Amino acid sequence: MNERTVTGKKIGIIGIGNIGRSLLQGLLAVELGGLSGNVFISDVKRENLHYFEPESRVVVCEDNKEVAEKSDVIILAVKPHDLRGVAEEIAPVVNEEKMVLSVAAGVPTRVIEGYLGNGQKVIRVMPNIGARVGESVTAICKGEFAGDEDEAMAREILSAIGDVYSVKESDMDVITGLSGSGIAFCAAMIEALADGGVYEGLPHDLALEISAKTARGAAILILAGDTPSLIEEMTASPGGTTMRGLYAMESRGVKAAMMEAVIEATKRAREISEQLMKNANRDVHSGTDEG
Ligand SMILES: NC(=O)c1ccc[n+]([C@@H]2O[C@H](COP(=O)([O-])OP(=O)(O)OC[C@H]3O[C@@H](n4cnc5c(N)ncnc54)[C@H](OP(=O)(O)O)[C@@H]3O)[C@@H](O)[C@H]2O)c1
Repeated sequence: MNERTVTGKKIGIIGIGNIGRSLLQGLLAVELGGLSGNVFISDVKRENLHYFEPESRVVVCEDNKEVAEKSDVIILAVKPHDLRGVAEEIAPVVNEEKMVLSVAAGVPTRVIEGYLGNGQKVIRVMPNIGARVGESVTAICKGEFAGDEDEAMAREILSAIGDVYSVKESDMDVITGLSGSGIAFCAAMIEALADGGVYEGLPHDLALEISAKTARGAAILILAGDTPSLIEEMTASPGGTTMRGLYAMESRGVKAAMMEAVIEATKRAREISEQLMKNANRDVHSGTDEG
């Protein structure tokens, strides 16, 4: 059986929940240069794996250790509080040839390196569930033991699921708020716009489609170089409909609420990070942890 992917690396994903599944679907959706190799997966919730059993390019493994043994690049997609257990479980088989990618919100590379305990290569990754359709915005930063070539490899793999940005680790928490969580804020905004249409009598499906496509149009214009204020200016004629709507938004503090969503999500990522760092330091000082 050919077990190689386009990168020449075998990829494993541990935790096939919301983001693990989206990453896997995104990776499988692109041909990856005629991907004939396999992706190795595991999850304690076995029902999460059944869906992928008929997929010939996916190997459902018995446990996490098997994924780690068979893969060159191991993506950890479990909740932050489950990360330690998984990392310690796979640590004995993660040698210097392998690389661990963690998507856990708020968990610093230093903490993951401590869990693994043996100078393994770690890359911290923050994707969003746009991965499922190749539209993730993914930030990455490397830990102490990963080199530039490891980061390049991670970028190559993750570019299959969307755009990838290499950032400073200190920026990861805010990107978690802006992108990892932010895709949900965008969805809520699209739904709110659609509900305005429904309130005024449009069928729900039509309103949602028009709202989502309107948001897509704004996003494409901005990515093409238009500023948000230019779009507002070009749409809002004096005394017109848009001006009335913008006034309504402004008077209800919609912009501040959107900003706060990102600020609060960032704070939460930082809280997780600080708690884990505190635990890691306590373990080191009390000598209870080899990491
Ligand atoms: N969801 C997002 O949009 C998103 C975006 C970016 C980053 N993230 C990060 O991605 C991670 C996963 O989030 P998620 O939303 O995908 O969570 P999720 O839906 O709960 O998926 C995690 C999966 O891992 C399983 N799991 C738990 N312990 C395990 C173990 N020891 N070995 C193997 N599998 C195990 C869970 O099973 P149980 O349910 O039985 O515990 C669950 O099926 C989090 O750290 C989060 O911060 C999420």
